[in-house]
Parts: sequence; C-alpha cells; structure tokens
Amino acid sequence: MRKIAIALTKGGTGKSTTAVNLAAGLAAAGRRVLLIDTDTQGQDSLMLGVRPQTGLAQFVEQEVGADEAVVGARENLHLLAGDHTLAGLKRTIALKEFGGEKVLAEALAPLEDLYDYAILDTSPGWDPLTVNVLFYAEEILAPVSLEVLSLQGLIEFEQRIEDIQKYHARVALEYVLPTFMDGRVRKSSEILEQLRTHYRRQLCDPIRYNVRISEAPGFGRTVFEFAPRSAGAQDYGKLIERIENGA
Ligand SMILES: Nc1ncnc2c1ncn2[C@@H]1O[C@H](COP(=O)(O)OP(=O)(O)O)[C@@H](O)[C@H]1O
Ligand SMILES: [Mg+2]
Repeated sequence: MRKIAIALTKGGTGKSTTAVNLAAGLAAAGRRVLLIDTDTQGQDSLMLGVRPQTGLAQFVEQEVGADEAVVGARENLHLLAGDHTLAGLKRTIALKEFGGEKVLAEALAPLEDLYDYAILDTSPGWDPLTVNVLFYAEEILAPVSLEVLSLQGLIEFEQRIEDIQKYHARVALEYVLPTFMDGRVRKSSEILEQLRTHYRRQLCDPIRYNVRISEAPGFGRTVFEFAPRSAGAQDYGKLIERIENGA
C-alpha cells in the first residue's frame, strides 16, 4: 500500500481539494483507496457528500472497529472521516509517555493489505496528529499556492520533514504541486520558476485556478463528477497519472 500525505504547514493551499480529488480519481481508475481525514474541520466527508457517524478519532481510540469507522464514499473509495473529536485524540497522543508519534501508524497497520493507497489529508500548522501522519506516510505531496509566495514555508516544512526522517527514514517529500495557477498573473509564473529551481525532481504540473474546483464541494461531488471536462478535472487527471507512474 502506498501511503501519501497531503501536507503543508500553511492553510488554504488546496490540501483538502487535492486529497479528495486525488483519492476519488485513483478510485475511479480502479485502485482501492482509503482517504483519511486528520483535520478537525472534517471537510473531506462534506466534499464527498457523506455524513459518517464515526471516524478516525473513534477508530484510533478503539471505541469502534474498522467495520464501523470506515465508510464507503464511492466505489473503491473508503473514508475515515475527521471531525472536532480529533481534538481529543491529539490530547491522547500528547499525553502518551512514549511512542506518541506512532499511535496513528499502529492503529492503521491492520488496514495495510486492504488498499492500494492511503491518502491522508492534514490540517495546517504543526501538531501531534500531523507528526503522526508523517511517521506513517512514506510519500509527501505538498500543495503550494502560487497566489502567495510560499516558497519559504515549503523550505521550512522540508526541514521539519528532515527532522522526522531521522526516525522514519522511508518518508520523503516526493511531490510539490503548484495550485491556484493563474497564467495571467506574472507572480504565478515567477513563483513557479522558483519552485522549479528548488524542487525540480518533485515539481508536478500545476493545478490551474478553476472555479469548478471550488464549486464542486458545495454539491458533495468531486471535480470529475461535477465538471469532467473542466480545466480542474484535466489538471487533477494529470496528477493522478503522475502518481500512478510513481514518477
Ligand atoms: N485550483 C483551485 N481553483 C479554485 N479554487 C480552489 C482551487 N483549489 C482549491 N480551491 C478552493 O480554495 C479553498 C481552499 O482549498 P482547500 O483545499 O480547502 O485548502 P486547505 O485544505 O489547504 O486549507 C477552497 O474553497 C477550495 O474549494
Ligand atoms: Mg484542508
């Protein structure tokens, strides 16, 4: 199973959008996908139009089993939903005397063979749960908004990843995904060039600014369902190809 964390300390860069559309696109291509929402905002279930009764927090705290916590969202796409109860899980993790950073990895281990991909959506910032995600994941995909200069944020984030690599050597920043690309805005292409200089290997083709991407969640639909011929669907389709090829 490939374990891909969608992460960046900065908020509003398209993490949830990417997690949901990537997971749904891979599932539509026939992969078995588990989407794990580790954000207290619980956006992913809303974006997919499902309303689970339980989710990640209850599963990790062993209040319910996987059969109850993991819900079907689409064919091949299962969801471990996030919500405000994750705040309690963060406290549980923080209070652990040792091994706190492995709580998520241990809880998810039994699901290993059931899926081809685990896609993990994360909250902005840096908290015990995000650290847990990075101790579990093996590939990190960082969506970087081209609207604001976030190169510095990405470089700082990479330093934190390096700290974690000392204990979890298999995790690495594998994909840098430019988002909110606007060809008409010069700043967009300038930031893109800077990203190319620093992250040539990881740089993916950008996701354009596309209003369909932001409208789809209001209908509980992915961009592929809501506007299959839109620029957003095309761009996320390309990302899925790249991830599938592992390049
Ligand atoms: N490429 C895009 N074009 C237009 N709107 C987008 C795009 N990507 C994300 N959005 C919108 O921007 C907002 C923030 O995106 P979101 O995925 O929630 O960011 P994050 O999870 O990093 O906080 C959402 O309203 C989303 O619909
Ligand atoms: Mg989010």
